[in-house]
Amino acid sequence: MTLFSLFNIRILVVSLTLVSNARVLADDIVLEDFESGTYEGWSITGDAFGDAPATGALPGQMSVSGFRGTGLVNTFRNGDASVGTATSSEFTIERSNIAFLIGGGPHKENLGIELLIDGEPERAATGPESEELEWSSWDVSDFTGRQARLRIFDRATGGWGHINVDHIIQTNVPPKRFDLEFKLAEYRKSADYLNEPLRPQAHFTPEINWMNDPNGLVFHDGEYHLFYQYNPAGNSWGHMSWGHAVSTDLTHWEHLPLAIPEEDGIMAFSGCCIVDHRNTSGFGSGQRPPMVAVYTGHGRGKQVQNLAYSNDNGRTWTKYSGNPVLDINNPDFRDPKVFWHAASNRWVMVVSLANEKVIVFYASDDLKNWKELSRFGPAGTKNKPNWECPDLFELPVENETGKKLWVLEADMGSGSIAGGSGSEYFVGHFDGTTFTATQDAKWVDYGRDFYAPVSWSDIPETDGRRIWLGWFNNWETCLVPTSPWRSCMSVPRTLTLRKQPSGDNATYTLIQRPVQEFRKLSNGVIPLNTTAAAWPPVAVSKPAELTDMNFILETTLQPGSARSCGIRIRTGEDEYTEVGYDREPGVVYVDRRKSGNVDFHPAFAGRHDAPVQLIDGAAKLSIIVDRSTIEVFINDGEAVISDRIFPTSQTAVIEAFAGDISAKLRNTTLQQLKSIWKN
Ligand code: FRU
Repeated sequence: MTLFSLFNIRILVVSLTLVSNARVLADDIVLEDFESGTYEGWSITGDAFGDAPATGALPGQMSVSGFRGTGLVNTFRNGDASVGTATSSEFTIERSNIAFLIGGGPHKENLGIELLIDGEPERAATGPESEELEWSSWDVSDFTGRQARLRIFDRATGGWGHINVDHIIQTNVPPKRFDLEFKLAEYRKSADYLNEPLRPQAHFTPEINWMNDPNGLVFHDGEYHLFYQYNPAGNSWGHMSWGHAVSTDLTHWEHLPLAIPEEDGIMAFSGCCIVDHRNTSGFGSGQRPPMVAVYTGHGRGKQVQNLAYSNDNGRTWTKYSGNPVLDINNPDFRDPKVFWHAASNRWVMVVSLANEKVIVFYASDDLKNWKELSRFGPAGTKNKPNWECPDLFELPVENETGKKLWVLEADMGSGSIAGGSGSEYFVGHFDGTTFTATQDAKWVDYGRDFYAPVSWSDIPETDGRRIWLGWFNNWETCLVPTSPWRSCMSVPRTLTLRKQPSGDNATYTLIQRPVQEFRKLSNGVIPLNTTAAAWPPVAVSKPAELTDMNFILETTLQPGSARSCGIRIRTGEDEYTEVGYDREPGVVYVDRRKSGNVDFHPAFAGRHDAPVQLIDGAAKLSIIVDRSTIEVFINDGEAVISDRIFPTSQTAVIEAFAGDISAKLRNTTLQQLKSIWKN
């Protein structure tokens, strides 16, 4: 799928906006909220406005959201071709500003709302080219005490030829464009705050609104920073900006204000962050090194690489005045990852020519001037269209003392192993200029919901770990049934390589394990009795110990001569998620066909297989379940299956099954996880 079509799909979303765009200040005067069910007080011409205010999207229109209450003006009656005007009765200007929610097309001349004084337009606004209404306002202090009218007009008949307006107020404090702070303040008061039934309790989620890729992961001054693709305007993809959170233990996260906003129509797409220890960029002020974000600016038909910097531990950011620092006039050139290459004493960037499935390598002395070094690709899974969000790092091989190899990781927007988006990696060498793969591409994760992983920069050498996390979602099925937030991140994972099998045919496999800090969330290990149940599945002892649906379940599947055996979690009335071993293809699988709400997308239900070699006749599983997530780490991280699940009940029932009595589930234990949000 091209980026263009991918983005079209991202825009065609159903938004479940439960957090309203409402804003009520005691001093505000509501001029019109379109809640009366009529146009009383307005004179209407033409056919675009209909007989009464709309109550949402009209036939043939994408989902409309961000309006207040149930009524709004929506001139999509009979499609974009209809035209007309709605003119208000007269009112007196009594506040410094008039503010309103506005959505729809961006045609200044033919589409919008205007303020009429003595019949003449004195102020005007048009739509943002979005069906998500946002705040706009006029300073009208010059006209205090004057009589005025409002006119909403639609003379546009082509694409985006409609306007949406709601909640027109007089105010002395104009709301911010998306009023994120207001929505957050409201949400923070709600009883469900960070605790809706499907809200993971041990994985990072944004408080409200849409999130996708992790960005700018960096360790600085005792804090792990997690930036992420964020929509400050709503619960679906759009207005991409960098959200921000920090943690001192990779487990408990503190939500911080928006770090890098979309501005002047340029979105802040994915990228990285580094600590510029030598102040090569000159952005540092004072004693401490600056943090520098390198991110893709998306807009005006192309993608370029930009810089922003912070001298206060990432709390505030300044966009570099010399942006862009890298512009090759290409609409699909994105997601830079930069690191300090000590051997060549310079910065190296990997960035993707997405639609060509090519990774480009650049070098720089100061982060501002970049020269191309080399290219890698197209490579990997054949005929799959794109690569995004690359990462490049060196990893130790755990069973070859002293050996290190380079890993290049890249993400495909569609066509991956479990369907939809997914990640692949190459193992090889990087000499500071060129990456050479020494074996074929392998899959990073065999589930459907692990994408755009990226690793932390600047983890101190005394620690020495390479840690990453990924977006716990799939572009194809990303409109998951959660609100007022969407998406979560995977558990942070430590990375190494393992050589297997030894001998001439050895290849290197990426090993991923949950960071050891994650274990601190455990409330203690409870042994479970799973003595070989033959078919049908039987409930195992002690699930009553579970107080919440976030837990670690560990077991060793020893199939004996049986075709399959395994475990079912979250078992309810005709509902369960099954994790098992299947001898025929020789796989461990997660089957989510009956996992609960699977109907929100036709591609969601399914079984996802990871090939495994039994070790001493068994496969060792460590399964992390977190309300709407399941991550299965197989044979100590040799393969992982990450899937979202949306169970309809809170049942804790765990069942075990075995194809025949030779199959056993050994060493089965359960650990309740503490919530990272409570206390
Ligand atoms: C990957 C991606 C990136 C892009 C970002 C936009 O999921 O498509 O390539 O920078 O999302 O939100």
